[in-house]
Amino acid sequence: MAHSRIHIIATGGTIAGEADPASGGVRYTAGVRSVDTLIAAVPGLAEVADISAEQILALDSKDITPADWLLILTCARSSLADPAIDGLVILHGTDTMEETAYFLHLSLPAGKPVVLTGAMRPADHPQADGPANLLAAVRLAADDTAQDKGVLVVMNQTPHAARWLGKARTTGLEAFESSRPWHDARPDGRFHEVDVSALPRVNILPGYAGAPAELIDACVAAGARGLVLALTGHGSVPAAWLPALRRAKEDGVAILRASRCAGPVIHNANADDDAQGWLTAGDLPPPKARIALMLALAGNGSGDTLHAHLPEL
Ligand code: SIN
Repeated sequence: MAHSRIHIIATGGTIAGEADPASGGVRYTAGVRSVDTLIAAVPGLAEVADISAEQILALDSKDITPADWLLILTCARSSLADPAIDGLVILHGTDTMEETAYFLHLSLPAGKPVVLTGAMRPADHPQADGPANLLAAVRLAADDTAQDKGVLVVMNQTPHAARWLGKARTTGLEAFESSRPWHDARPDGRFHEVDVSALPRVNILPGYAGAPAELIDACVAAGARGLVLALTGHGSVPAAWLPALRRAKEDGVAILRASRCAGPVIHNANADDDAQGWLTAGDLPPPKARIALMLALAGNGSGDTLHAHLPEL
């Protein structure tokens, strides 16, 4: 049987990291090694698939910006449009992997497998996890069962769906958790036709005891077109925030209630969302709700028709 052709896009991360000798191995720098070096460290790879690769970024993923998401999206869209390429693997830092994965989940077309992977240990660690994760990601991207699942992630050699995974721990190989099994995943791609040449600014505002309302006005003054409120409990809006939220709404800023707890935040259940003109996140965590809101705003430009795009994200 002919081999699948899997294209690898590298963006940096610990999978390409090297320890900082001055720190006695405690600290490391992400995104040092090239994609070719990472591929050469996995001898069995060529037996699984024909591999091509490109290095588009070399970042610690804490520094990835929406402009970088757009670069990754452009490269991913053009690779997936190539009939010779059967699937895509994206190497990425673990800190914001769930954000890039969900952004691509909403903005890439359904069909060919797209699998993100990374590592919790740098490439020069004696028990580096990157090579096994890269091999597992290429295997999954070459596997028919990964088709029409939307964007997937492999960490600790375990697949996850972009919609449901999150980084749950700062250290350890089992850093990622999912609320549902990846087999249940469905493609989304509802924004795959949107020309996202620029993403509007959407800020996340954390709710906590005594959280100040001034940050709302500051975000609007800085140009935010949307605000995701990462609120306490069931998405409970502090009374002290109401005047500033009203001002923001009058300025045309979309307001979305989310929770810092695991969801759901149910529309009209804990606030008069329709009367206020607020959106709700369901069970999407705030960083993913922000991505959905950015894409919805990029797609139609108006806060008022967002409900057509956001339900059941
Ligand atoms: C990063 O996110 O780039 C650094 C941390 C990691 O990859 O585990």
